[in-house]
Amino acid sequence: MHIGTTLTNYIIETQRSLPEATGEFTGLLNDISVACKRISDLVNKGDLVGMLGSADSENVQGETQKKLDVVTNEVFIEALTQNGHIAGLVSEEMDDIYPLPNPSRRGRYLLLCDPLDGSSNIDVNVSVGTIFSIVRAPEGKEKPSTEDFLQHGTEQVAAGYCLYGPSTILVLAVKGQGVQMFTLNRDFGEFILTRKDVQIPEETKEFAINVSNQRHWEEPVRRYIDECLQGKEGPRGKDFNMRWVASMVAEVHRILCRGGIFMYPLDAKIKAKGQSGRLRLMYEANPMSLIVEQAGGAATTGRQRILELDPSEIHERAPVVLGSRAEVDVVTRYHNEG
Ligand code: AHG
Ligand code: MN
Ligand code: MN
Repeated sequence: MHIGTTLTNYIIETQRSLPEATGEFTGLLNDISVACKRISDLVNKGDLVGMLGSADSENVQGETQKKLDVVTNEVFIEALTQNGHIAGLVSEEMDDIYPLPNPSRRGRYLLLCDPLDGSSNIDVNVSVGTIFSIVRAPEGKEKPSTEDFLQHGTEQVAAGYCLYGPSTILVLAVKGQGVQMFTLNRDFGEFILTRKDVQIPEETKEFAINVSNQRHWEEPVRRYIDECLQGKEGPRGKDFNMRWVASMVAEVHRILCRGGIFMYPLDAKIKAKGQSGRLRLMYEANPMSLIVEQAGGAATTGRQRILELDPSEIHERAPVVLGSRAEVDVVTRYHNEG
């Protein structure tokens, strides 16, 4: 595939190399790209179309929903449930799996998504994104159950995100096919391949963590960040830079482009809430981990590989340490030594 080709062409080509390809995968990715284009348009128009601010509701995680959280979820439902490419949908914004309205037109895939990631940034005009994960639906079953969604991250057929920043960029990782970046050309409404076979630099000098949680961190995280902060004079022997956008999509995108490490680790505050992490496993940690691994990086909970976690709930949370392999290895080693 050459730089400048369309996402549609890329997907058709990719589908040819998949076993038992029927065109459904192409159709599904096309539905997702339509949803992302719609969301890009809404995010771009913002206040002009009354999209900013809070809705009067909470999601299943007890978080106040932004208007755009609600609307982007509806955009996904509309784009994904009409064409018969999926058998079921899970979204951060819905308590349970979404039952498809037309049972006679169900596809062979299940989709899990975070329609609007980084929603705290929307009112201040900072980058937000969409994250998605695709797994196979069980064959010969009339209706998928919640358990059918609870597959290991290693089972994902494809994963991706769309970043609504200065440009709208869709990043796609079809299993075994590397990581490709497509930039939306608004003039003719197509995603165009702008970077192919993206590889994360192995070494980095940039970390991303919400330091306001420092007093709650576990010892291995304290040690790692403390050593980064000591710079050239410390045990790491190099000066580090820090970033925190509070949009996971934007952080992962930066890491794909210039390397780095992103951490939302387990801490005492999270544990006190009875939670197992901050970010959601099925539609944040798993898809991002597939993308990062396919780009040559690594993704762990600090203790084990995220893609091998055994999920037990669609909305469960997991600690996340991902990015340049050498740094993720250091953090993981510190956890497993302790
Ligand atoms: P969402 O907007 O889908 O709830 O996700 C936001 C996530 C993630 O994108 C980001 O890394 C993290 O929450 C930011 O958390 P803090 O506000 O604790 O920094
Ligand atoms: Mn999110
Ligand atoms: Mn979200």
